[in-house]
Amino acid sequence: MTIPQHFDLLIRNGTVIDGTKAPRFTADVGITAGRIVTIGDLGSATAAQVIDATDLIVAPGFIDSHTHDDQAVLSHATMPFKVSQGVTTVVTGNCGISAAPLREGMDLPMPLSLLDSPAEGRFTSFAAYLDALRAAPSSVNVAAMVGHSTLRALTMDDIDRPASDDEIAAMRAHVEEAMQAGAIGLSTGTFYPAATKATTEEIIEVSRPLTSRKALYVTHMRDESDQIMEALEETFAIGRALDVPVVVSHHKAMHKANFGKTKLTLPIIREAMKHQCVSLDCYPYTAGSTALRTDRGMLGGRVLIASSEPHPERAGQDLDDIAAEWGVDKEEAARRLQPGSAIYFIMDEDDVQRVLAFDETMIGSDGIPLGTRPHPRLWGTFPRVLGHYSRDMGLFPLETAVWKMTGLTARNFGLHERGTLKAGHHADLVIFDAACVRDTASYERPDTPAEGIDAVIVNGTLTWQHGTHTGARHGQVITRRDTTKA
Ligand code: ZN
Ligand code: CU
Repeated sequence: MTIPQHFDLLIRNGTVIDGTKAPRFTADVGITAGRIVTIGDLGSATAAQVIDATDLIVAPGFIDSHTHDDQAVLSHATMPFKVSQGVTTVVTGNCGISAAPLREGMDLPMPLSLLDSPAEGRFTSFAAYLDALRAAPSSVNVAAMVGHSTLRALTMDDIDRPASDDEIAAMRAHVEEAMQAGAIGLSTGTFYPAATKATTEEIIEVSRPLTSRKALYVTHMRDESDQIMEALEETFAIGRALDVPVVVSHHKAMHKANFGKTKLTLPIIREAMKHQCVSLDCYPYTAGSTALRTDRGMLGGRVLIASSEPHPERAGQDLDDIAAEWGVDKEEAARRLQPGSAIYFIMDEDDVQRVLAFDETMIGSDGIPLGTRPHPRLWGTFPRVLGHYSRDMGLFPLETAVWKMTGLTARNFGLHERGTLKAGHHADLVIFDAACVRDTASYERPDTPAEGIDAVIVNGTLTWQHGTHTGARHGQVITRRDTTKA
């Protein structure tokens, strides 16, 4: 094959980290029509657009394995909080929560309220959701899952009980529709009130349409604290019953009594991996964030209010301070602030590092694009792993860090022709400075873009350069169908 000498876009003289964990090497990358054409010494080649990447890393665009961007990819289509980190693909529909299918005007119980779904213009089918994304593309690619809690809210008159056979059949029909439309999997969030009453049997029967497609079962498990071992066993059992790959979302050991428990969970996960397809992800922080809850377990440590519908002015404040000011206890203060979201300091740094360093752990932000004071992971996850954990702490080499956010994720989620730099693959790339890449988002100022991310290219189009969004919105919908033709 003769290599064409003219490209749409030519990245010159970069240090390529290709997303496979292989050592870096110096090369040019030629891109045409949204695809990588060739990687090598392209000395005399010309291009419509040339980027000089001397002294910079050229890597596959980062894949955010765990997001709640379902609505944001439509309502904040340029996705600055993700593009600025080097993210080119988001996996949506996590923790049992998806933007489709819903009904116009239906109430969204906690935690579906995290979606910020407008009361009107809702998607009554999964196909309608994906069509809307195709009609109005985002700046990032979207691989979408359907959420079990969404289906419960849609089909059950009372979600505070196990589903009946008829309700299970109705949910299963929606899963079938989602699979046909191109959903890559189904997620559950049995930790949350909307699904705590769902039995293992219910989840298996609702998820049957996953089996023939080998689609993913992804879970925010029932328990990430005292009962975490049982929760892992349930997760593996569901994967075996359905014969599908499972993903343990944002793996952690919550609350002081469980600090150190990842010493036990990780070997169990590794053992399970020998017998079935299991993967996991995590975010690089000791605080979690989710809907504002009133139970003592979650309110035991420091709680920062991220957003509150009745009291938006309280965003960024400590729940302790608000409670003191109001002269009430924390539970009552939290109740008055609902619905809303909060940041909970519930993890131990040693556990976070142990999970991050586990060789099979992918990076997923779990960012919640809601309100003015979100958890800093929304803007900082990927540069924090590259800068703080890989470069500054030496937790793992940069090649491994990149793999955890690209090649590994593409493999586990079946994202065809993405996640590694290879001729023929979709041209999703990030160019960054390994010496100075770092997250700047903090709990105090959570919405600041990372430093050191030089350029971001999505499907061959320059989308971020020198700290500025180009306005390009060339993200694609990645469906299960695309991934099975490999
Ligand atoms: Zn979750
Ligand atoms: Cu989540």
